[in-house]
Amino acid sequence: MAKRGCEELKILIVYFFRTGNSKRLAKSIGNELKKRDLDVVFDEIKPVVLYSWLREVSRDFPRYPTIALSLFISLWRRFFLRHYHQVEEDIQAMEHPNISKFDRICVGGPKWAILSYFVARYLQTVRGIMGKKIGIFATLKLFVAM
Ligand SMILES: Cc1cc2nc3c(=O)[nH]c(=O)nc-3n(C[C@H](O)[C@H](O)[C@H](O)COP(=O)(O)O)c2cc1C
Repeated sequence: MAKRGCEELKILIVYFFRTGNSKRLAKSIGNELKKRDLDVVFDEIKPVVLYSWLREVSRDFPRYPTIALSLFISLWRRFFLRHYHQVEEDIQAMEHPNISKFDRICVGGPKWAILSYFVARYLQTVRGIMGKKIGIFATLKLFVAM
């Protein structure tokens, strides 16, 4: 079977945002790909409830010192990542709950310690993701850890 040309690729860009940075980045990535005549579709991850940022930070806050520690001690980092429990929160139904018809997927959102709770839930619940080529992007404020 002939290999399909890039222009036939169907690309899905999935994003979550709270203050707008990740949406802007998702749109710029998508628009750049569209300029190259690629077929780009967007899908937004929307929380069922959007809590205050203080409440969201507090859910992960007790683990922040261990995250910081793992930046410096590689043995701890391996242990930490193996046993890391990712916080998740409920999301609304997606426009594309099954992504099997897309050739490439790009998923992104803000860095919240590691992953925002809504992107984490999306990755757990989306169907057709096995074996897909996935690109990721993130926006952040202070520092990159893991
Ligand atoms: C709950 C929470 C946790 C965050 N954790 C981090 C972090 O660990 N490191 C960081 O650099 N920024 C952190 N931020 C800041 C966001 O990642 C940053 O402002 C991001 O660009 C926001 O993207 P958005 O506009 O798409 O929501 C956090 C923000 C929130 C609300």
